[in-house]
Amino acid sequence: MFYLLYNVVWFFTRFFLFLLPPEFAHNFTFFIIRIFFKIPFVKNFAKSKYCIYNKKLERNVFGLKFSNPVGLAAGFDKNAKLINDLDAFGFSFIEIGTVTPKTQYGNKKPRLFRLRKDKALINRMGFNNDGLDKVVSRLKSKRTNVIIGGNIGKNKITPLEKSVEDYEKCFNDLFKYVDYFVLNVSSPNTPQLRELQRKDKLEVLISSIQSINNSKSCPKPILIKISPDLHFKDVDEIITLIKKYNIAGVVAANSTNKRDGLKTNFNNVKKIGLGGLTGSPIREMSTNMIKYIYQKSSGSIPIVAVGGIMSPEDAIEKIEAGASLIQLYTGFVYEGPLLVKRINKAILKKYN
Ligand SMILES: Cc1cc2nc3c(=O)[nH]c(=O)nc-3n(C[C@H](O)[C@H](O)[C@H](O)COP(=O)(O)O)c2cc1C
Repeated sequence: MFYLLYNVVWFFTRFFLFLLPPEFAHNFTFFIIRIFFKIPFVKNFAKSKYCIYNKKLERNVFGLKFSNPVGLAAGFDKNAKLINDLDAFGFSFIEIGTVTPKTQYGNKKPRLFRLRKDKALINRMGFNNDGLDKVVSRLKSKRTNVIIGGNIGKNKITPLEKSVEDYEKCFNDLFKYVDYFVLNVSSPNTPQLRELQRKDKLEVLISSIQSINNSKSCPKPILIKISPDLHFKDVDEIITLIKKYNIAGVVAANSTNKRDGLKTNFNNVKKIGLGGLTGSPIREMSTNMIKYIYQKSSGSIPIVAVGGIMSPEDAIEKIEAGASLIQLYTGFVYEGPLLVKRINKAILKKYN
């Protein structure tokens, strides 16, 4: 009965939301969640419908205990506004950010587009975020035990040569408030950011962050988020650095600059212009990247899989490819909140 009702409600909710401009729909959804979850019992009701508790879903990855393998990808709650609410949809971890030291407006609007025929999005948000201070103040009021990842980056105005300082500032200020870190060096929407994936630059970044980390009494897991557009020879160099500096894992992958094999009319895609493509069309690219890292590292590097997970089958594909954890963004937008539970149920069925 619940599933029937859910399908009807989600059909109309999505229909309505998709009439709105994408970024407005996103912010409106946040507003609605915040209002509704203030009503007594609503959050508990959502939890009772969307969460699944089973010891067999628990995962110990890079020293942290996840109550299930499904998390929310970076970019959805960039500013940690809903950290006390989003676990009601069944996520065991939420990656906030990308956070930069200073507040940033991001690129000019419109900067988020739907490709409905492809179940995809194109975004050129450009690290719009409230900046470190505001994010830290929100994290201080965290009331749930959901695991929080801190995805960090550089401000647009910071020259590439000084970018390590931005990462260091974010790392230090967020250290007390997040459970793990992700160095985002793969967003296509901040000029030159992806150059930080190059061996020499990445080594400087990783070594400096890891040395700060190691000076703490209780170091935190640090992961690197990579682009699905990397060549495998670049991935080899990243794997070498991950091993050399004892990096906890890799998040694979971010959005792509490619536009191959889309069902959406070519001219419409061209009109949208620059930006990172996400959702269904990047599923295979992301899976291939995960398979490669898993095989090349003989399974020694924990992989957080993200990219085109739109169904339980897609999630299983990522796990079979070698992922320890998975994250959703575009799938959550197109398929709705029940996707998290459906994935967890499928994992239970497949592996137990
Ligand atoms: C609107 C939007 C904003 C995003 N912002 C960020 C971000 O700030 N930092 C980041 O690391 N990834 C960001 N991402 C990328 C996602 O975290 C994820 O890697 C990508 O969307 C692929 O997963 P998906 O196919 O499930 O969406 C963003 C994605 C979208 C759609």
